[in-house]
Order: sequence, then C-alpha cells, then structure tokens
Amino acid sequence: MSNFNGKSMKYIVFFDKRFLQQSINELRSILGESKILKYLSDSVIIVDTGEKKADLKAIYDSVFLYKTEELIFEVEVASGYSALEEKLASVQKEKGYASSKTEVLKEAAFDERNAKSIEVEIGTGMEKYGARIDLLNPGAVFHVIINGSTAYVSIAGSDNAYGATLDYFRNRNMDRDIVENGISRAEFKIHEAIDYFNIKVCEGSRALDIGAAPGGWSRYLMKKGADVVAIDAGRINYEAMPQGSRIAVALGKEREIADAEDIDVLDMEKLDGSWKGYDLLHIKELFGNIKISELVKLGPFDIMCIDINIPAQESAIIAAVCSEALKKGAFLILTLKMTDDKIEQAMAKSKEALGATYEDIRVKKLPHDRKELTLFAVKI
Ligand SMILES: C[S@@+](CC[C@H](N)C(=O)[O-])C[C@H]1O[C@@H](n2cnc3c(N)ncnc32)[C@H](O)[C@@H]1O
Repeated sequence: MSNFNGKSMKYIVFFDKRFLQQSINELRSILGESKILKYLSDSVIIVDTGEKKADLKAIYDSVFLYKTEELIFEVEVASGYSALEEKLASVQKEKGYASSKTEVLKEAAFDERNAKSIEVEIGTGMEKYGARIDLLNPGAVFHVIINGSTAYVSIAGSDNAYGATLDYFRNRNMDRDIVENGISRAEFKIHEAIDYFNIKVCEGSRALDIGAAPGGWSRYLMKKGADVVAIDAGRINYEAMPQGSRIAVALGKEREIADAEDIDVLDMEKLDGSWKGYDLLHIKELFGNIKISELVKLGPFDIMCIDINIPAQESAIIAAVCSEALKKGAFLILTLKMTDDKIEQAMAKSKEALGATYEDIRVKKLPHDRKELTLFAVKI
C-alpha cells in the first residue's frame, strides 16, 4: 500500500473516451508534457504533478476534461478487499467524515462481478472496521477504480470545488424533476449547461428553442419560468409540459396536428407578439422555411437554444443568423455535433461563425453530451 504525501501529488483525471486524443492534448497543455503517469482506461488517467497541486481550475475550465480528484492511496486487491476496506474506514475517520459511500469503476478488473456488488462488499467490510455507511446522504464519496489487481482511490466532492458539479461515476446530481417528469434524455444536457455556465433563466423570460422536439429542453425552460417558442417540424409532447401550461401551435405548410385538444392553433401568417399569452408556442415547421423577420417579431428573446442533428458549423450559422431576434446580453446554448474527427476544426469554425454577433464564447463537453459539445455564448 502506498500513501501519497508532500513530494508527489497524484490526481485522477476523468474525460470521455470519444474525445481521448483531445483530452490528452488538453491535459498536456495544462500540466506539461511529462505529467501523465498511467492510463487506467481510455477515459481515466493518473497524473503526477510532483509537489505542485494540479491546476483544478484550468481542468474545470477546459473543454474536454470533466474533473480531477486527488488520488489518496492505491492498494492491491487480488487477494481480497479487506486492506482496502480498512484503509477506507481509517480515511473516513481521519478526515472527520460522519459517513461515506463508495463507488466502484471497473477498468480491466480481475474481479468479474459487477461494480455494484463489489461496492456492497466494500461497504459491508468498512462497517466491520467501524465506518458508518450512508448511501443516501454520505459525508464523503470514495471513488475506487479497479484496474487489474490494483484499486486506486480518490475522494469525490467535498474538497474538490471545481469538480463538484460534474459527476462521472454515477449521475448523482441528476435533477429529480427530470428523472421523474422529463421528456427526453436531452434534458440532462440543458440542465448541465445551465449549471456549468451559470445561466440565469428568470420567470417570464422569453426563450427560442430550435430543433425542439420531442420537447425536453422546452419543458425544462418552462419549468424555470420561461415562455418558449419551440421550432420543430416534429411532434412535441404537449401532455408532458408543466401542468396548466397554455400551449399554442402554428402549423407550417402541409403540417398537421394530431392531438389538438386543449391546444390553440394559430395562423402562421399572422404570428406576432400576441403569442405572449402562451407559455409555449410550437411552430411546427422546419427552421429553413421560417423567415428571420418573423422570428424577430416574436422576440426579443432572452435565451436561445439550438439542439439539431446537423454538423456543428451549420448549427453555429443558424445561431448567427437568428441573433437578430435576441436581446443584447441574451444567452445562447448550442449543441455542436461532431460528425467526423476534425473536432478542433469544427470548434474553430463554429466560433468563427459566431464571432461577429456573440461574445464570451465557451465550449464544454458535458457528461450527457455524446459525440457532441455544448457551446455557450452571450449576444453582443
Ligand atoms: C436532438 S433532437 C432535439 C431534442 C430536444 N432538445 C429535446 O430536448 O427534446 C433534434 C431535433 O431537431 C429537429 N430538426 C432537425 N432539422 C431541423 C430543422 N431544419 N428545423 C427545425 N428542427 C430540425 C429534429 O426534428 C429533432 O426533433
């Protein structure tokens, strides 16, 4: 068993394997060339920063790296978990945590059981060494990465301010309302974006959601108090919108509505500021068939969201064109879909397309993003 102190600061860095090369490049540029110590998998790396603390803020601000946690010890587990359990129990006591919970990530582990059953065994073992386990409201969360026959242990949360909001192991901070009432998995993306970029959505603010179906982002924004104009030729799940929502739909050419009950149908040609009596106005039409001047009449918007499955640069061009409908200082949340491996190029081109109309442009790979990144910007 080895303990790290003074001379050697080791950290576990987490990222998404879909962006392995970009993550390594970013890690190198933040910490320096020689700091990468060991690849635990294609999404977990141990770095050794010598006597220096890792630059947690730079990692938090990076595009591709989710989080970093200090590696507190590593231990051999080939002949069982008791040494690990004893050490975890003593760390819990030493650091003064009232209780803890352990989460296991298996990477090429010798143990064939699933991570959950290993967690149960470790928790039960820790109790024998006097530790208090609390799965619902733990004082600390230990992360145990089992690689081969070695377990690497870090502590998540508490003293790791910059990593606290982005969970890698489990979706611990998942919003309960989305889990219970959410329309689509995409809702976690907007939730993470609002959290990470610290975006304020005020009661009565106006949002434009382009590529909105089946309506997850719109529902999320409505829950936050925004009135939403949602553009999508596809079906939006009106029934799943917050209770009591006033909903209207404006049908594009050759579009139909199957479920018109309790929904007002507005004349597309006559859309104007009067939509403001509604919580949700669904414009059932492709974005390309709507004139920007029409959108301007519905604004000005405080927030614009674009989540369309088209190449990143094309989404950025839509955001640039629609900026006219936004207030100065309005927020943009844009999903940048990566359709090939020219990721840096797609990012650069997207930023370039936005440069004339937006400022404070930032990009982050959020945990629920797949082969995509989330771009945030502020309307100039
Ligand atoms: C990933 S889904 C959006 C999911 C949505 N954010 C949610 O939370 O439910 C992408 C949507 O973009 C829509 N879309 C694709 N091309 C479009 C276009 N040209 N104009 C408007 N919507 C488009 C698709 O119909 C699809 O519903």
